[in-house]
Amino acid sequence: MDFWGMADNVSHMSDPYNHYIDGAWTAGEGEETFESKNPATGEQLGGFRRGTPEDAQQAIGAAKEAFEQWRDLSRIDRAEVLWDVYHELRDRHEELGEIVTKECGKEISEGKADVTEAWHMVEWAAGDARHPQGDIVPSEVPAKDAYMRRKPCGVVACITPWNFPVAIPFWHMAVTLVQGNTVVWKPAEQTPWCGQTIAEMMIDAGVPDGVFNLIQGYGDVGAAMVEDDRVDTVLFTGSAEVGHEVSQKVADDPGKRVSCEMGGKNAVVITEKADLDIAVHAAVMSSFKTTGQRCVSSERLIVHADVYEEFKERFVEIAEDITVGDPLDEDTFMGPLIEEGHVEKVTKYNELAETEGVNVLVDRTELDDGEIPEGHEDGHWVGPFVYEADPDEPLRCTQEEVFGPHVALVEYEGDIERAVEIHNDTDYGLAGAVISEDYRQINYFRDRAEVGLAYGNLPCIGAEVQLPFGGVKKSGTGAPHAREVIEAVTERTAWTLNNDEDIEMAQGLSADIKTRDE
Ligand code: UN1
Repeated sequence: MDFWGMADNVSHMSDPYNHYIDGAWTAGEGEETFESKNPATGEQLGGFRRGTPEDAQQAIGAAKEAFEQWRDLSRIDRAEVLWDVYHELRDRHEELGEIVTKECGKEISEGKADVTEAWHMVEWAAGDARHPQGDIVPSEVPAKDAYMRRKPCGVVACITPWNFPVAIPFWHMAVTLVQGNTVVWKPAEQTPWCGQTIAEMMIDAGVPDGVFNLIQGYGDVGAAMVEDDRVDTVLFTGSAEVGHEVSQKVADDPGKRVSCEMGGKNAVVITEKADLDIAVHAAVMSSFKTTGQRCVSSERLIVHADVYEEFKERFVEIAEDITVGDPLDEDTFMGPLIEEGHVEKVTKYNELAETEGVNVLVDRTELDDGEIPEGHEDGHWVGPFVYEADPDEPLRCTQEEVFGPHVALVEYEGDIERAVEIHNDTDYGLAGAVISEDYRQINYFRDRAEVGLAYGNLPCIGAEVQLPFGGVKKSGTGAPHAREVIEAVTERTAWTLNNDEDIEMAQGLSADIKTRDE
């Protein structure tokens, strides 16, 4: 099935795209369908079956059934499927990047980077199949060999978000499959076209029936996956609210594992020792790339009083002028928000900030008509919103994640300890950056900032796949990414073999059997 170009052909709307269960495209049990829409234009991109909990259960059954045969293959053979996907991602880079941009609204360099990040993860996972694994562990007893082995968990449920609609599915699925697990995947309901495209690649690559299953749909499908006893591990990347529900449900189910990566109220700290060119550049990238819709995007800029005025002037000037518009146009910096409901949410937070009495510096919540490119009137537009807030005020706007281009400038006085105190004054802990030319300040931030991803003299976005990606506090309970996914989708066995004809115990424990006859 060729999905490319479907936006030019609306006839499929009466014939929506299906789920993929047990090696077959299927309409499933449900009657309902939903549409994918281009967030920049409102154009309908395609119609999709809305999955039901029963569809999820059927897919889980197929994944369970397929597990034994899949686990019996060598890791290297399992990786072969992924290598085909890797080549296809590379060969179709431009085309897939455009699909990402059309479906989730990220500007085109980001659409393409999403695909690049996907093949990087596939390369990491498939390459890892040939790497040595595990540890050899010494023993007190010379004749004992001990080493660590990993076994696949079984069925892994993958629930992925819309903002990285190609990369994050591969964060979850590439390692999971190479390690010998089978997958039931629910892509975000906003990006089913990317989901469909990935499924087609998996099928072209020859993934065996039941090993990979796709259910399109909403939260009820995700909940059915999380609740099903036959699911061994849940990988979730998305909002903190849903992530906590997922973690709570899994906690009630002994033996089931979960790895969740959620959002943040991330910050960049700019000290009095900062190079202000780097500071302004890093702050703009952190706050406005992806229109603030990365889980690592920064909504707080914590700036030392000595450099505050200059930083403010330069940052505000860029925020006033930064290009918002057609994400397919290479001159665009910020595309639209994902959907109308999200425009409402961001607008409400911008209004809330005003109600909370902050000093607004830039308000491009509603773009001028002239700014919206022709044919894009139905897009979900907002521009930057920048304000000054007091770090000692308990404000909702500086505490709650907005997931948009909504940025507080927070002025501080004193040392790096004070900056980090403000930085850590949030329930979240995903990503953060420090901008400074002083290594002591940088090292203090590195050691004390409560985040999973910390950067020095860089934006707090743009992690590479070979680093663990995940947060602390309210931002996560694991890192469903690279090496850390291996932890979530495998069980470790500490294996010990005796090479002697006698049994000798460690810890001086007697191995003599004493009977009454002696
Ligand atoms: C996300 O923020 O939702 O580190 C994922 C980055 C990207 C991944 C972001 N590699 O910015």
